[in-house]
Amino acid sequence: MNNFIFQNATKVYFGEGCVKEYLSCLTGPYETVMLAYGGGSIKRSGIYQEVIGILRAAGKRIVEFPGIMANPTYEKVQEGAKLAREQGADMILGVGGGSVMDCCKAVSLAARYEGDVWEDFWARLGVIEVEPLLLGVVVTVAGTGSECNGGAVITNQEKKVKTGRDYPKLNPKFALMDPTYTYSVPARQMVSGGFDILSHIMETYFSEPNEDNVSDDIMEALMKSVIRNLRAAIRNPKDYTARSNLMWDATMAENRVIKMGKKCDFQCHNMEHQLGAYTDCNHGQGLAVLHPVYYRHIYREGLPKFVRFAENVWEISRDGRNDEEMARAGVEALANFIKEIGLPTTLRELGVTDKEKLREIADSCGISAGSYKKMTHEEILEIFNECFE
Ligand code: NZQ
Ligand code: ZN
Repeated sequence: MNNFIFQNATKVYFGEGCVKEYLSCLTGPYETVMLAYGGGSIKRSGIYQEVIGILRAAGKRIVEFPGIMANPTYEKVQEGAKLAREQGADMILGVGGGSVMDCCKAVSLAARYEGDVWEDFWARLGVIEVEPLLLGVVVTVAGTGSECNGGAVITNQEKKVKTGRDYPKLNPKFALMDPTYTYSVPARQMVSGGFDILSHIMETYFSEPNEDNVSDDIMEALMKSVIRNLRAAIRNPKDYTARSNLMWDATMAENRVIKMGKKCDFQCHNMEHQLGAYTDCNHGQGLAVLHPVYYRHIYREGLPKFVRFAENVWEISRDGRNDEEMARAGVEALANFIKEIGLPTTLRELGVTDKEKLREIADSCGISAGSYKKMTHEEILEIFNECFE
């Protein structure tokens, strides 16, 4: 195992009724609360009414910051930072999925920073010597795990870059996670979020070291949990057990626990983020298109782990297969699962229609240091082309 330091500063309140029980107390010391949310799903589901009722009853001054879009933009971050400053917000309460949470983290930093925050934080990956505005989140969709990490993935439309980094100071102070809040997530988004969870685990699992380590064991259990509970939630969207497991799987995948001692790959994420920067595609769907094709490119370099994946996650028996055939069978089981749950399998299905653009997108992708096989921009373009239709 590689050396590591572990810390996670977010306090989690998990379970049905947690918002009613704890929100008032958690916002207690703060007078002005900036309530941030997305395109309106929380109004249709009744979550907004529940949250605002609690804040009003507690006598808070509420400043609303609505309209955070999927794949939040840097422009939206600046709008939020300006609002927080002008209104003297004492804290931000983000209610939504990864997009809302990420945008709120970015706003919490931008509201306090005097310099060019894009250049200094996202582009140069510098240390920012300010204390971000306090942030609490109410999670409404399982997927990114943003509730328990310091990642703020933001799209700079002008520069055509979508990027983020896990910056511990940006961990939310608290996360309220009521699995019943995810009942209203449409099936299409639920499977997309579910695949994002699986992707976060695979991007960590398929990396050095390959020697016995507890992270790999935890990840096999987590992957099996995601697969089983996603199937159950598709059968019955109000299956509390399935929704709870998916919600906690998502957190476990991205709260740093499984990454300890691992190199981590995240090449597929680098590629998906740039596809997103150019086409605004859905994150989990983009990952679903890329993963099997990427793994067909790299499995030979990580053969023992791909064999283990086939055996321990998909429970494929040897039946006379050699290692290479086993590894391929595992990747094909993954590809079949993607089809089974109704995710797209081509870039065209994802809405990417301009094949000519793929070269530029491929060239803009970051190259991961942790991949079993070091990618080149040429090979990324090959992968994009194989994904096209
Ligand atoms: O905007 P509203 O109207 O709220 O609708 C949202 C949105 O359309 C809807 N939704 C959320 N909760 C719902 C609901 N609809 C009905 N009922 C509910 N309870 O779902 C749609 C998608 O929401 P979004 O937040 O965009 O999805 P997700 O959680 O997948 O977040 C995606 C963003 O997170 C980034 C992605 O790149 C993308 O920008 N990521 C963040 C990471 C992190 N911070 O650690 C890691 C990830 O790898 C990822 O990059
Ligand atoms: Zn992701």
